[in-house]
Amino acid sequence: MPATDAANDDVLIELRGVSKRFGTLTVLDGLDLTLQRGQTTVVIGESGTGKSVLLKHLVVLLRPDSGEVYFHGRRVDHLSEDQLVEVRKRFGFLFQMGALFDSMTVGENVAFPIVQHARPDDRQLEETVAQKLRMVGLDGLQSRSPGQISGGQRKRVALARAIALNPEVVLYDEPTTGLDPVRADVINELILKLKRELRVTGIVVTHDMTSAYKVADRIVMLDKGRIIADGPPEWYKTSNDPRVRRFVDGHANPEDLAALDD
Ligand SMILES: Nc1ncnc2c1ncn2[C@@H]1O[C@H](COP(=O)(O)OP(=O)(O)O)[C@@H](O)[C@H]1O
Ligand SMILES: [Mg+2]
Repeated sequence: MPATDAANDDVLIELRGVSKRFGTLTVLDGLDLTLQRGQTTVVIGESGTGKSVLLKHLVVLLRPDSGEVYFHGRRVDHLSEDQLVEVRKRFGFLFQMGALFDSMTVGENVAFPIVQHARPDDRQLEETVAQKLRMVGLDGLQSRSPGQISGGQRKRVALARAIALNPEVVLYDEPTTGLDPVRADVINELILKLKRELRVTGIVVTHDMTSAYKVADRIVMLDKGRIIADGPPEWYKTSNDPRVRRFVDGHANPEDLAALDD
């Protein structure tokens, strides 16, 4: 499979031999992964294969049992929670369940990370919130409650909140799941826009291949805690690897089908 060749100073994040177990379940199994600055890397793989667990290791919300995590060449997996505050500020995280705080307005949701980290005056805060909402096309909805906007709009507000502190990296965990194809494409366009306009390095977990093909510079496929494929989107369109084909083309595996016969 084609390797992504880039100069060393373009490396933003590196996982070296990362293993993670929960009880007897090995979720990550000596995983090596190097992420280039400015690229969008898409991580695909079956449900339960460790994609969300992988994302959480990048911001050390989970710590590896063995192996190391580096950000800008600095080892981060051993840092204290206090030290991690500074690291995490440089990441935006669009969580899988991407929930907004229902008791807060849209504007307060976007303002939340800002007021946690700084003490902007009211006018500054208002301007920043408006700017972030403008970025996702929702300026003007500040005073709505999350219950008064659509699911697609909620995702976009969550994205505005994720970029509130001008992160270098945005982690997207299944950003299009649950959206219709048109609304999903709005999210894809936003991922492209953040890369283009804010030079965001993106890591996108998805099983939406339309989205993967559209936003990826590189696609990494995870299976049983290891990377089993790594290459540009075009490679996936023609790969003959049966595990890749089955996932990309959406075919059930024979064992699962056999289990349907009783
Ligand atoms: N905090 C946790 N404690 C125990 N098991 C977990 C935890 N987080 C994830 N797992 C398990 O690890 C496996 C991988 O989970 P996850 O990364 O969420 O999968 P996915 O690829 O669908 O995102 C699953 O079997 C899940 O149940
Ligand atoms: Mg997940």
